[in-house]
Amino acid sequence: MPTNFSKVLFEMRGDIAVITLNDPDRRNALSRQIVSEVSSALELSASAAARAIVIAANGPAFCAGANIDDLKDGWMERTDPLTDPALLFRRLVEEPRVVIAAVQGAALGGGFELSLSCDLVVAAESAWFALPEVSRGVIPNTGLALLQRIVGSRVALELIASGRRVGNEEGVSRGLINAVVAREAVVDKAVAWAHELVAKAPPGALSAAKRHLHAHAGYDWTRVQQSVTDVPRAEWQEGLDAFTEKRDTDFEPFWRALANQS
Ligand code: COA
Repeated sequence: MPTNFSKVLFEMRGDIAVITLNDPDRRNALSRQIVSEVSSALELSASAAARAIVIAANGPAFCAGANIDDLKDGWMERTDPLTDPALLFRRLVEEPRVVIAAVQGAALGGGFELSLSCDLVVAAESAWFALPEVSRGVIPNTGLALLQRIVGSRVALELIASGRRVGNEEGVSRGLINAVVAREAVVDKAVAWAHELVAKAPPGALSAAKRHLHAHAGYDWTRVQQSVTDVPRAEWQEGLDAFTEKRDTDFEPFWRALANQS
């Protein structure tokens, strides 16, 4: 039986749990509520004895990143273990079962980080990825840890500093995407692939392979969580206000203040 949370859907397809972000009007932006509902769905998947997990999304975009209203409300300064996206991403990385992202449309900011936290990515032709955080005065804290392992540090810095879009062809060539399929096939492909993987391998070997792969990467999760507070409040307030007020950012005063200090 499918279980519907408020903004997240959960269902078992055979042995595979499918967790679907379901707030298409807000482009599935990661609000406090969505983050906590995905965590609850992960718990459900364990009690349902799911052998692998697919993370999908409804609507034109996979996920538009952190919910900007929650960010403006001081989310980064008062993190709560139940709603901190970085802890959700860590949980997915440390999850013993294989997690496959099924991505369509934009995977922006935290949406890109969500895909990076999954083990494998199946993407629709419409999929594109970008990290607009720095241009909004925040940093993609989990992306800083996970992205460079996949694309290398130069390309990671370029993507983080520029916020430019990566489409599906570049995504495949940079190792961000494992397979590209038609939009209507993206979830089915991810579920079929998950079934294939769990049919061919026992749980202990799969989870040990995943655990040690990440252990060799040596992520510093304490740094990931704390690093968001390293950006001055005034900078992110300007970046996020500009988004909600639908205007260009004005970071010039910060550059001038820096010049006056020297
Ligand atoms: N947080 C809160 N609300 C968001 C959001 C976010 N991250 N992303 C989108 N929304 C809202 C929009 O404000 C809009 O609300 P409205 O209907 O009340 O105006 C609604 O979702 C639809 O977004 P819209 O921009 O009209 O959709 P689109 O399909 O034209 O574009 C995106 C989709 C994802 C490309 C675009 O919404 C976008 O760039 N979002 C911001 C992403 C971002 O900067 N994330 C990082 C945050 S640090």
